[in-house]
Amino acid sequence: MRIGVPREPDGQALVAATPDTVGKLIELGYDVVVETGAGSTASFPDSQYADVGARVASKEETWSADIVTAIDAPATGELDLMKRGSSLIARMAPGRNEEFLNELSQRGITGLAMDMVPRISRAQSMDVLSSLANVAGYRAVIEAANSFGRLFSGQVTAAGKVPPATVYVIGAGVAGLAAIGTANSLGAIVKATDVRAETAEQVESMGADFVAIPVAAQESTDGYAKEMGEEQARAAEQLYKEQAAQADIVITTAAIPGRRSPILLTEDAVAGMKPGSVVVDMGAANGGNVIGSKPDDIVVTDNGVTIIGYTELASRLPSQASQLFGQNVVNFFKLTTPEKDGNLHLNLDDEIVRQMLVTLEDRVMYPPPPVQVSAAPTPGPQEATVAPEPEPVKEKLWLAKHWWKLVAVAIFAWLILTAPPGMNTHFIVFVLAIVVGFYVITSVTHSLHTPLMSVTNAISGIIVVGALLQISSDNAAVKILAFIAVAVASINIFGGFLVTERMLKMFHRS
Ligand code: NAI
Repeated sequence: MRIGVPREPDGQALVAATPDTVGKLIELGYDVVVETGAGSTASFPDSQYADVGARVASKEETWSADIVTAIDAPATGELDLMKRGSSLIARMAPGRNEEFLNELSQRGITGLAMDMVPRISRAQSMDVLSSLANVAGYRAVIEAANSFGRLFSGQVTAAGKVPPATVYVIGAGVAGLAAIGTANSLGAIVKATDVRAETAEQVESMGADFVAIPVAAQESTDGYAKEMGEEQARAAEQLYKEQAAQADIVITTAAIPGRRSPILLTEDAVAGMKPGSVVVDMGAANGGNVIGSKPDDIVVTDNGVTIIGYTELASRLPSQASQLFGQNVVNFFKLTTPEKDGNLHLNLDDEIVRQMLVTLEDRVMYPPPPVQVSAAPTPGPQEATVAPEPEPVKEKLWLAKHWWKLVAVAIFAWLILTAPPGMNTHFIVFVLAIVVGFYVITSVTHSLHTPLMSVTNAISGIIVVGALLQISSDNAAVKILAFIAVAVASINIFGGFLVTERMLKMFHRS
């Protein structure tokens, strides 16, 4: 089958396949046609696609492929170019795009929505929403830093102290956690809030303080938030207002699937913020989390607060975002092309395929049956137990794996039986020394920077003790060997401490 990769409309810098991912699609047995200039905005010239074996072709030829993979649902003009019976893989926002689904089914086009990949662990490698939200969360902090006229990290200079910036993130999903990580690495003090209680631990593991809404939080079973009750909403509004007034930068990422973005910062809350502070409203595309934000625009309020409402933050880092999107698409093709024969096999019993399938030729398949995804562990049995293997097979496997141990025991027994009497005593002492040495060394408390280093130093210590006992020997050869042993083992011991000290210095803040 042939896959077409079209050039996205103006304003969309991403491309659905990069030269790297096109190579992987070809390995799966597909022919790939890429529209002229498709990757130019993401810094992938046509020549790079041609080098990996794709054909660079016209718009008409690209859209008439058997399968078209694009970033977003195309306009009617492009759909006109598609063949009946072909497939379209793209973000489609099917919940808000009923008309588009009808259009696909009328044209007999099978639609697979990349934004419908369920949030289950098996599907993570195909989840474009997560990939792009991750990049967007990072970019939100960079945009905020660009508009914020101050340093992020605290500084101590001869002229005085500069405090670090305070960043407050509301909504600790994929985008929120990426924003927390980025702001933290730039040296800011980061706080975050989410309605879902299970996010507290994730927020803290990213180095931020979790600020809880002071009314019972939600326990989510599907990884998504539900709309809040009245009491909780009031408490949240008050908390956001207080925190925003203290923060230099607020990043809002709250979303409830299938709903307009919840309002987090009211006019009042924005009016209470410090002049010069910055708000990035990541929900701007879906109605906005902040009153006063404008999609794809920057607004400066009367009290000097900058509100950024960019709706396609990931497209401001087009090369890597395209690579991630393209890799998600490749992973979907790996699932649906198990034979690597260049043919798309849609198994409707597979919940990933079923969730993504919005139209199957002339039938609208949306909405799919609900899928139970779990962010918090659900009680009860999770997995079927594996039946025990029959004994004879196990025995055979054991022999195949452990035959050398039997051989070693046989050689050992032969040695003991045939060695001269004096040798056996030495041998027993040697074996006991190994056992005792093993227990002594493995119970050493780690004081060096890695456990391995501590263990090797303990071994070196035993070598030094042994060699010191031998160094007074009358035999010159034994003396020399003992001296070399003390010297080499000492280098290891003192070297270990020196390296540890250097490593520790690297983490000291001056
Ligand atoms: P997500 O579903 O993983 O995270 C949203 C989080 O908001 C969830 O943890 C949820 O519990 C929380 N939340 C919902 N209502 C809340 C409330 N009232 N108060 C506090 N927390 C609340 O979604 P993801 O992928 O992190 O995306 C977040 C938002 O960013 C979405 O609106 C998405 O459309 C948007 N986005 C924007 C981009 C841009 O370029 N502007 C790019 C990618 C995502």
